[in-house]
Amino acid sequence: MLKDTGNAGRMPARFTIMDMLIPLSSPDITQAEIDAVIDVLKTSTLSIGPKIEQFEQACATVAGRRHGIGVSSGTSGLHLCMLAAGLKPGDEVITTPFSFVASTNCILFAGARPVFVDIDPKSLNIDVSRVESAVTDKTKAIVAVEAFGHPGGMVELERIAQRNELILIEDCCEGFGGGIGEHGPVSAVHARGRRIGSFGRAGVFGFYPNKQITTGEGGMIVTDDDRFAALCRSYRNQGRDGMNWLAHARLGYNYRLSEINAALGIAQVLRIDEILSARRRVANAYMRRLMTNPSLILPNIDESIDMSWFVFVVRLSDLFDAADRDELIIGMRQSGIGASNYFPPIHLQPYVRDALGTKPGDFPVCEYVSNRTIALPFFNRMTEGQVNLVCDTLEKLIERRLVTRKPRT
Ligand SMILES: Cc1ncc(COP(=O)(O)O)c(C=O)c1O
Repeated sequence: MLKDTGNAGRMPARFTIMDMLIPLSSPDITQAEIDAVIDVLKTSTLSIGPKIEQFEQACATVAGRRHGIGVSSGTSGLHLCMLAAGLKPGDEVITTPFSFVASTNCILFAGARPVFVDIDPKSLNIDVSRVESAVTDKTKAIVAVEAFGHPGGMVELERIAQRNELILIEDCCEGFGGGIGEHGPVSAVHARGRRIGSFGRAGVFGFYPNKQITTGEGGMIVTDDDRFAALCRSYRNQGRDGMNWLAHARLGYNYRLSEINAALGIAQVLRIDEILSARRRVANAYMRRLMTNPSLILPNIDESIDMSWFVFVVRLSDLFDAADRDELIIGMRQSGIGASNYFPPIHLQPYVRDALGTKPGDFPVCEYVSNRTIALPFFNRMTEGQVNLVCDTLEKLIERRLVTRKPRT
């Protein structure tokens, strides 16, 4: 079994980033970002100032929304969405088992019950054809995740949410800048098509350093709903409702994002077109290099999808299982190349099994996919030479594994 099932870029103690010839992820920080942070440090306003407002506006524009509410992480943003949606113990929330755990944890934070629905093997997002049969009279919301930045199924989910009077929250932590139905620079005005972050009641972006843009740590709620936005602003700021610093209208949190982080975020958003096209270039290089390998299934992206590449994840064919996958990841890391098993099924995490009674076999598509996925190194400045080295190493390891493993019974 693999010891490391951590988030992108986080390595187990045995394999540190420093050891990696090619890391799994790497932030793209230019002099503009450094200057922006230093400029803030020269002022006396390090929190609650003009930078956060500017960053909120910039992110709202990318998502095609009216409001942005900057928060300390994607997880805290999701938590606030659950509170603003009014979720309480006894409520059910439909979600995907194939994600980073925060998309389920936010439901548990609110005391509500996550109800998992299996995934679509192509988009790796929740299977929209199965969602309505999971709706009960306790269902209040859907937390949908755009796995690896793929917005597949979001239009259908929005219709399902409307038809069943459910609150749709988009966990778009992995999809900043992507969309459906229209391609082109994010900085251009999008008259047609839909942007990631624009579906349902609200969306939440994440800005951990492995994401398309980073603020070190940080997140952003985006919504068109004035009341929802006001509630999120209040919950983020210790439940304050107005100018009086020591008046607290509700039980809140300190989930604020500092001016330093916001300044970094603004400098990154200003480069969003360049960043997304660099990531497209790396994804295309992987696609070209690996498309003829019969042992691998590559990401499947329809023409209509304007993918915002978060990570590059390949899937091993039916010939392989989880033990093969784990051996390949260990082999990659021993060769100095970052690799990870994105994502272990959430319903099989020990605390989720304890809380919900879920078990192996409950969501077969998720488990099948999850047993065979490998995230490969992916970052803006990755060169074609690095892509080739990753692919050569992976292919050699696959060939060796096919020869040396025990025959399947
Ligand atoms: C789908 C998804 N949701 C939520 C999060 C949580 O974001 P953060 O690490 O900023 O709390 C992540 C982060 O990796 C994520 O990938």
